[in-house]
Amino acid sequence: MFRRLTATAALLAAALTPTLAGTASAADAPLRELADARGIYLGTAVTGGKLTGAYADTAAAQFDSVTPGNEMKWGSVEPVRGQYSWTGADRIVDFAEAHGQEVRGHTLVWHSQLPSWVENGTWTPDALRTVMTDHVTTEVSRYKGRVDHWDVVNEPLNEDGTLRRSVFGATLGESYVADAFRAARAADPAAKLYVNDYSTDGIGAKSDGMYALVKRLLAQGVPIDGVGFQAHLILGQVPSTMEANLRRFADLGVDVAITELDIRMTLPATEAKLARQKADYAAVTRACLAVTRCAGLTVWGFTDSDSWIPDFFPGEGAATPYDENLSPKPARAGIAEALAPGTPPGPAGCTAAYTVQSQWGGGFTGQVTVRNTGTAPLTGWRVVWEYPAGQRIAQAWNATVAQTGTAVTATNLPYNGTVPAGGSVTFGFNASWAGSNPPPTVLGCG
Ligand code: XIL
Repeated sequence: MFRRLTATAALLAAALTPTLAGTASAADAPLRELADARGIYLGTAVTGGKLTGAYADTAAAQFDSVTPGNEMKWGSVEPVRGQYSWTGADRIVDFAEAHGQEVRGHTLVWHSQLPSWVENGTWTPDALRTVMTDHVTTEVSRYKGRVDHWDVVNEPLNEDGTLRRSVFGATLGESYVADAFRAARAADPAAKLYVNDYSTDGIGAKSDGMYALVKRLLAQGVPIDGVGFQAHLILGQVPSTMEANLRRFADLGVDVAITELDIRMTLPATEAKLARQKADYAAVTRACLAVTRCAGLTVWGFTDSDSWIPDFFPGEGAATPYDENLSPKPARAGIAEALAPGTPPGPAGCTAAYTVQSQWGGGFTGQVTVRNTGTAPLTGWRVVWEYPAGQRIAQAWNATVAQTGTAVTATNLPYNGTVPAGGSVTFGFNASWAGSNPPPTVLGCG
C-alpha cells in the first residue's frame, strides 16, 4: 500500500468552514473519502451474511476496505482436510469488488478457530508444515489478485513477547512463521503480507517481542511487508506510546496498519463515555496519520450490532463507531474529525485536569484546566466528565457547563476557545455534594 494523494483533499478543504472543533462539517463526508484524501484506507470487518440493506449500504458508503470477520479463517474454509468451502469468503470479496473496496484477508495461520483435525491432530513437524503451507497456498491462490493485504500469521506471541505454544509454535518453533510467509508470497506475489497481533499497540514486552521477531524475519529475507496492530482497546486507555510504537516498526522498513480497532466500555454507555470514546477513536486515527507507513485503519465491526465484544467481554460493549441501529456515534465523528483536511496528525490535542479547590458542608468549588498537548492551536474545546456520587453543578465561570444526570459537558466561551500549542485555559464552577465527593470517573477533552 502506498499513499494515495487525490484532489479530494483540496476540494474538501475548500468546502469546510472552521467551527468548534475546526472540522465539524467533515462529519458529513463519507469516511472513505476523508481517509483517501489523507492517503490511508479505512476498513471494517464485516459479517458476510449481513451484507444486505442498511448494513451493506453503510459498509459500502463509508469504508474502502473490508475484512471478513470469520469467513476466511481456517475453520471456515477448510473444516475437513482438503475440502474447501469458499461461499462465505467469496461473498465478501465479491461485495468489495462491487463497491471499489480493498480486501484484508484474515487470517491464514492462527491458533484459534482452527478445525479440530488441525488443532487436535498428532503431527510430526514435516506433516504439520506441509498441511500448513498447503492451506496457505490454496487460500492465497484462490484469491490471487483480489486480496490486497493478508494477515498471514495471527497472534504468534504470548503476553511476554515469547513465541506462543500453539500447535504450530509447539511443533515447528518460530520457523513456521517464515514458512507461512514464503508460501503466501509464492502464491500471490502482489499481496501485502502482514503479521498481526493484539496488545502490541503501545511499547511494552509484547510489542518488543514482535519488534524482535520482525527484525529476525527481515534479516532472514522472509517476505514480510507489514505489521498489523489489532487495537482492541479499553475506553480511556489508548496507549500513549502508540504513535512511537508504529513508527519504530515502520523504521524497520515495513508498513504498519491498525487492523481490528474497537474501544470497549462497561455498559451502559453514557454521554460522557461516548464522548471519551470519540476522543480515543480520534487519537488512534491520528497516530496512524502521523506515521507515513501506516497504510490504513480497520475497525472490528462498524456497528455495535455486529461486534464480538459483548460475547467475549461480558458486561462490556458499545465498542464501535455506529450504534445498534446503524446511527453514527460520537466515535464516528472522532474518526471523521481526525481525518478531516487540516487536522494535524499526532496525539490528540487536549487533556483536562480536574481539581477541587475548596469544599464545605454540601458544596464545593471545582476547577478544570484544559491543556493543548497537540502541535496546532485548539480552535474550540469541550470537556466531559461523569460524577459517581450525585454531585450537581450549580454555577460555572469561563465555560458553559451543562449536566444531564451524572454526565457533565463544559464548552469554551467565545473568548477562551483558542488555545495555542502548549497553552492552557482554566474554568471553574460551584457544585453540591452529599455523602462523599469523589473525582469524576471519566474525564475527557476534545
Ligand atoms: C473474532 C470474531 O469477531 C468473532 O465473530 C469470533 O467469534 C471470534 O473471533 N482477534 C482476531 C479476530 O484476530 O479474528 C477475532 O475475531 C477477534 C480477536
